[in-house]
Amino acid sequence: MAERGVSCSADQIVITTGAQQGLDILARALLEPGGGVLMEEVSYTGAAQAIAAHRPRVWSVPTCARAGIDIDAVEVLLEGGVRPAFLYTVPDFHNPTGSCLTEASRRRLADLAGRFELPLIEDDPYSALRFDGEALPAVRAFDDRWVIYVGSFSKIVAPALRVGWIVVPQGLREAVSIVKEASDLETSALTQRVLERFLSSNALEPHLERLRHSYRERRDAMLDALERHFPSCTRWNRPLGGLFVWVELPPSIRADRLLAEAVDEEGVAFIPGSAFATTRDAGASAMRLSFATCEPAEIDEAVRRLARVLKGRLRDE
Ligand SMILES: Cc1ncc(COP(=O)(O)O)c(C=O)c1O
Repeated sequence: MAERGVSCSADQIVITTGAQQGLDILARALLEPGGGVLMEEVSYTGAAQAIAAHRPRVWSVPTCARAGIDIDAVEVLLEGGVRPAFLYTVPDFHNPTGSCLTEASRRRLADLAGRFELPLIEDDPYSALRFDGEALPAVRAFDDRWVIYVGSFSKIVAPALRVGWIVVPQGLREAVSIVKEASDLETSALTQRVLERFLSSNALEPHLERLRHSYRERRDAMLDALERHFPSCTRWNRPLGGLFVWVELPPSIRADRLLAEAVDEEGVAFIPGSAFATTRDAGASAMRLSFATCEPAEIDEAVRRLARVLKGRLRDE
């Protein structure tokens, strides 16, 4: 956490069974019946699942595939009297859009959280997977009372270990510990020990170097392939890290229908933007492409096939 500009004490860290459990615990600790949550119009589906059981009201704000959450829109809502139980966002290499907040935006979000006494959940599984540019401080670096940081070893060591952590503001420490205990008493000590052995052998940094190298190559292969094969009426961002590229299609194309055709005709899958929507139509004409698991040559072939399906649909219109 110190590397992310965060100062916290060991007793503010709660080890969780993956970041997903962190989100579940925080939803339970913070959401009261009738409460609401502030999220981006497209958000990580697991966060929506974590809050769903509480049936909260959801306020959505726009989000940009380059600049991230629309902070002006957040401010307008808060100034208008909206009081959510928390704001949820992914500042680094957002899932699904790949966006990354500037340092000024992080500072501004933290200031808003402080000014309106709004708990802000900073979900951060991807920041260590940065390929370009300087690492930026976590939002939590700018506020230690209202920002709650959720970390994970899933994307940087192994998802199957199921180990993550929350950096909890002092005032929330007890509530979070009680919910954690109620959920599973403690995260498997065996897997924590495995991870501890890995971390104390100084293996993490060289491992991260390899990951960044390999994911950068795959990201570049995907961006090259999109440039080469996709029609000029489509747009996409250039993520500086993480695992995803967000592609926007003409509004007449529904990505969920395109998915069915892409799987049937070409054996290629992606996640349609609508799967991440927190409002009715958000992301309907967008796709999240993941470059995580395929070799560069496979990525090129997959994008070529996807472009073929898309061009067919555009011709039929
Ligand atoms: C933004 C975000 N948060 C949390 C998670 C869940 O992480 P974990 O495997 O640590 O539970 C994911 C996994 O895809 C994610 O993308």
